[in-house]
Amino acid sequence: MIETPKFAVFASGSGSNFQAIYDAIQSGKLCGSIQLVVTDKRDAFVIQRAKEAGIETLVIIQKEFPSKEAYEKEILLKLMELKVEWIVLAGYMRLVGNVLLNAYPSRIINIHPSLLPSFPGKDAIGQALEHGAKVTGVTVHYVDAGMDTGPILAQAAVEVVVGDREKTEERIHTLEHALYTKTLQELWSR
Ligand code: GRF
Repeated sequence: MIETPKFAVFASGSGSNFQAIYDAIQSGKLCGSIQLVVTDKRDAFVIQRAKEAGIETLVIIQKEFPSKEAYEKEILLKLMELKVEWIVLAGYMRLVGNVLLNAYPSRIINIHPSLLPSFPGKDAIGQALEHGAKVTGVTVHYVDAGMDTGPILAQAAVEVVVGDREKTEERIHTLEHALYTKTLQELWSR
């Protein structure tokens, strides 16, 4: 059993998964401590959420660095300073590179809105609808160097609301929030 794992959440957008994880900690459903939110987008709504939660945020723009390695080294410095043990990706729209993969072997987790290995990459929900899938879902997995290819930790299925992207998305996001917190709790209580 790991004692109160210290983790960072990486997000590029709205941060509803960050919020669900934060709320689960607050209500005692998840044992963990969010040390930092890392975002690669200056206008990401997750910044606002982190501020309201009183969590430190690192806004860091990859193109302001000479390379991906240099960008990730800068992030790593901050993670080391805060003694971060795990990285939880929640809508972080970049492939994680070698600097972070090597520093956190089997300690980077992601959530993806499909039943992997179906529909990896961008707009997984759109891809499922485009293919006429009747069932899609959510996957929580370890992160490796590929695009949504790491070993699967947990999955849950969602019935597609045919012809209704908005309702399908709503179902998926609701499920994501529950599955992510549950899976992290299970992982960290092993
Ligand atoms: C989620 O659908 C997640 O599965 C995917 O990106 C989306 C992020 O949503 N990786 P949010 O920013 O947590 O609301």
